[in-house]
Amino acid sequence: MERQEKINELLQKRQEALIGGGVQRIAKQHIQGKYTARERIEKLLDEGSFEEYDMFVTHRCRDFEMDKTQYLGDGVVTGRGTIDGRVVFVFSQDFTVFGGSLSETFAKKICKVMDQAMKMGAPIIGINDSGGARIQEGVMSLAGYAEIFQRNIMASGVVPQISAIFGPCAGGAVYSPALTDIVIMSEEKSYMFVTGPKVTKTVTGEDISTENLGGASVHTSKSGVAHFRVQNEDEGLALIRKLLEYLPQNNLEEPFTTTPKDTSEKVIDELNSIIPENSNTPYDVKEIIYKIVDEEEFLELHRHFAKNIVVGFAKMEGIPVGIVANQPNFLAGVLDIKASKKAARFVRFCDAFNIPVITFVDVPGFLPGSNQEHGGIINEGAKLMFAYGEATVPKITITLRKSYGGAHDVMSCKQLRGDLNYAWPSAEIAVMGEKGAIEILEGRNISEIKDDKEKLEFINNKETEYRKKFTNPYEAAKYGFIDDIIEPRNTKIRIVRGLKALATKKDYNPPKKHCNIPL
Ligand code: HXC
Repeated sequence: MERQEKINELLQKRQEALIGGGVQRIAKQHIQGKYTARERIEKLLDEGSFEEYDMFVTHRCRDFEMDKTQYLGDGVVTGRGTIDGRVVFVFSQDFTVFGGSLSETFAKKICKVMDQAMKMGAPIIGINDSGGARIQEGVMSLAGYAEIFQRNIMASGVVPQISAIFGPCAGGAVYSPALTDIVIMSEEKSYMFVTGPKVTKTVTGEDISTENLGGASVHTSKSGVAHFRVQNEDEGLALIRKLLEYLPQNNLEEPFTTTPKDTSEKVIDELNSIIPENSNTPYDVKEIIYKIVDEEEFLELHRHFAKNIVVGFAKMEGIPVGIVANQPNFLAGVLDIKASKKAARFVRFCDAFNIPVITFVDVPGFLPGSNQEHGGIINEGAKLMFAYGEATVPKITITLRKSYGGAHDVMSCKQLRGDLNYAWPSAEIAVMGEKGAIEILEGRNISEIKDDKEKLEFINNKETEYRKKFTNPYEAAKYGFIDDIIEPRNTKIRIVRGLKALATKKDYNPPKKHCNIPL
């Protein structure tokens, strides 16, 4: 073969690989409002940066006459590229080839990029759009999945792992995204479930649609499996790029600090009047967050799930931070099972990737009731406490208003190795609120008062006395549990100064095989 012929052969094979399962199936993908695997990669990465691996891989299955149907690349596009100049590894399942189903070789391709991501210390991004295990390949496919799962587990806490679900993701296939740090789902086009509607109907009799069983809405609001739902793939791909702005390349590096537009120390006067006069009046804690963070940019995770706690990324004078805040606007900001789980996972994510955690506290306590107790609120609350207590990243806590009982301890208190614990003058740090306290402490005396007016007066007096003594930040500050009581308008200044001072923080946990966090 002439030299030029050889080159032509290469070009022709490349062309063949580029069209995956063929133009008709590509057209079907487009009709369904979905991009192809390659289009997704192109939109995700910096222009022209994609270096594809294993374009010429084909499957090895000989059963079901599979040897007669081969596609170059075998249903997944893998490789390396850059996002804002930073190296990332990527795989994108190609639904046009056997429905993006996973074969032995398909899995090997994914494992190769995951291994490289680990060696190079770079994020790994997986785009899922697949009919699951390639049925013709039987156990080879199951083994392939498990090879990927094992790598997800090893990569956890080492390099950021981000999953986008832009199509089907069912059966055991869901476990790879579930093992990653962030899951993004596209509305209406994607679903995730272990067991689909048909089997569900057969086994349990429950008649439920795909969307209601495992659509983006369900997983971002009910199960919490996904962190984001996006209207379309463009939004999802842009979101991945945005997310990386807050993350380091790996656990040994710091997240990227950028130069802020405005470097002057910022007094925010509105904060002095943002907490309502009545301490039971709700307010939106996100208003406080938006005022404090750079450019009012707050990337909220799990926005629709456990709304009584808010978590997300932002920058403070260019320094990436993770923010956790109780939300008085929803269930009075109480801690329940879902909120504890959501915040615990987020704090651990931040800690794994050296992202300082800023906590805004306004929590009346844990949600009471048999639902919560029987559902394991003890374990879930302990999980959040564990997450804060084991975290060695800089931890700055601002108590805005209520901080009661066990919830006070859980929400990044001083004794959980809080580095800087500040409180606003509106803070109420106590074992419980005045009503509950007086009921318990004065119950017998109250019951002995026969006259209703007298009784009410007695209760009011006792409650006022209690409030004066306990529901303020000074009791805690007296013991050094609060480092300083700050004027709200100085909050950003104090946090940023704190972050700069804590940049050199070193803290360690004792050597162990691994912790035994109450899961
Ligand atoms: C092989 C598959 C396939 C699979 C789809 N295809 N799924 N080939 N193995 N798992 C092929 C189809 O034969 C078809 O080929 C093409 O992909 C597109 O599929 P369609 O059915 O035409 O597409 P659509 O109507 O959009 O439906 C998509 C779908 C459906 C809902 C995903 O294909 C489906 O239900 N597939 C099977 C899902 C499944 O049960 N997978 C196994 C789950 S068990 P042609 O040639 O016509 O284009 C599992 C265990 C994993 O995954 C365990 C891991 C631990």
